[in-house]
Amino acid sequence: MVELLPSILSADFAHLADQVAAAERGGGTVIHVDVMDGHFVPNITLGPPVVKSLRKATKLPLDCHLMIENPDEYIPAFAEAGANWVSVHYEVCRHLHRSLQLIDRHGMKPGVVLNPATRVDLIVDILPMVHHVLVMSVNPGFGGQEFIPFALNKIRRLAELRQEMGLAFRIEVDGGVAHDTVAQVVQAGAELLVAGNAVFGKGSPERNARELLKAARKAAGEKESVIRKLAAGPGRRRRSNEVV
Ligand code: DX5
Ligand code: ZN
Repeated sequence: MVELLPSILSADFAHLADQVAAAERGGGTVIHVDVMDGHFVPNITLGPPVVKSLRKATKLPLDCHLMIENPDEYIPAFAEAGANWVSVHYEVCRHLHRSLQLIDRHGMKPGVVLNPATRVDLIVDILPMVHHVLVMSVNPGFGGQEFIPFALNKIRRLAELRQEMGLAFRIEVDGGVAHDTVAQVVQAGAELLVAGNAVFGKGSPERNARELLKAARKAAGEKESVIRKLAAGPGRRRRSNEVV
């Protein structure tokens, strides 16, 4: 099932609770929280204290995307603050298996994130451990960037691997998800759709979220109907002179 994960990176931080509530009314089901340290990415955002405040403001799961160099040191603090899902970047984890275990042992859902230049095949061995794989479709650090199209191949590859390996991890996409890209990412196989600028950039977050989700569900419906047709097979062959 496709779900919309509003990313608060583009929200008005002075009115965070109201903005999150509006995105939830528009159909957002998980709140995406971007944590940046100014080292792994060239930007600084927020940490456990803001997660703790958000925890009081919404009942929705909080999906913390850690764009920080030494995530293991902070995982306990995010658990304490009330994070539900935590994802770490492949590129910073020397001991990715250990980091994922640590997240799991703190009672949170572990995820792994791939930068645009990182190949999917590098994480095959740890796929059975993750709740979600987050495919970056921009270079992490900022909201409102342009979608990188080859991220679609990575989403397709992950969907194939999931099928081949008989796993159930969820495929999340982050960066440049908006009205002009959402259908492609859903058709490729992503189901957790992070959107910052498209929800909080301008206008009403509630309406923006609702419209984006509607477009995503339409694309998901179209994909389902193609799969059903393929599964049903070619059917009766038409006679060459048959009028249709
Ligand atoms: C970028 C962040 C994203 C960001 C996406 O580093 O990880 O979550 O909010 O923003 P948009 O949807 O504006 O591309
Ligand atoms: Zn993110």
